[in-house]
Amino acid sequence: MRIPLVAGNWKMYKTLSETKEFMNHFVKLLKGSEKAEVLICPPYTSLYVVNELRQNTKIKLGAQDVHWEEEGAYTGKVSCNMLIASGCEYVIIGHSEQRTYFHETDETVNKKIKKSLEKGLIPIVCVGETLPQREANQHHEVVKKQIIEGFKDILDIKNTVIAYEPVWAIGTGRNATPQQAQEMQHYIRQILAELYGKSKAEEIRILYGGSLKPENAKEIFSEPDIDGGLVGGASLKPDSFYQIVLAAQ
Ligand code: 13P
Repeated sequence: MRIPLVAGNWKMYKTLSETKEFMNHFVKLLKGSEKAEVLICPPYTSLYVVNELRQNTKIKLGAQDVHWEEEGAYTGKVSCNMLIASGCEYVIIGHSEQRTYFHETDETVNKKIKKSLEKGLIPIVCVGETLPQREANQHHEVVKKQIIEGFKDILDIKNTVIAYEPVWAIGTGRNATPQQAQEMQHYIRQILAELYGKSKAEEIRILYGGSLKPENAKEIFSEPDIDGGLVGGASLKPDSFYQIVLAAQ
């Protein structure tokens, strides 16, 4: 049984005071009986305060990226140990914004996944095609390559989450249809079955991300291979994020 996961990726939003305001409101909405696991991935500067304010709730904490080295002279980077010491259980890896703007490649994704798994952090590995790639009917090929190269030489994927985020749906207001998302996410599960066996593939949670909103989440989450969502814009407001959490049943 895959427990749905609803993860908020705050991207580069929220100062400390905005974070506190969100958390004070959001924890009041949670009843504790929600079926989905709830995860917040704030910017690094807000990890500490989200960790403090989530105490006595079931909210999990994650980061938006990590470096693959243990420690060292890597200005601007943060290690797995630092994230774990800040209360993180999850880390987003290979987000399309990292791939597009910050030179993330399948090779660096692979190094980050390996280090995270070694340290016990759960990677949320993002894959997805651009609009020209979908229009050229290359979306399956693109996603397959991202998975095969991202998971190269990784023998066990038990503690891994995959997020299918079509780039054309991110921040555009144009979500994939439930059918498009289901079709791709079923395909991703088939690739995982080829690599790791059917039973392992059945255990892995595959999230959808891209313009998820309270209005479309329930229909998207009702598809059999969609195990929750990675939410950008709509995770910045406690009420809309909570509505999406409730949609995952
Ligand atoms: P939006 O929900 O704002 O489209 O962002 C999706 C995303 O990139 C989550 O990682």
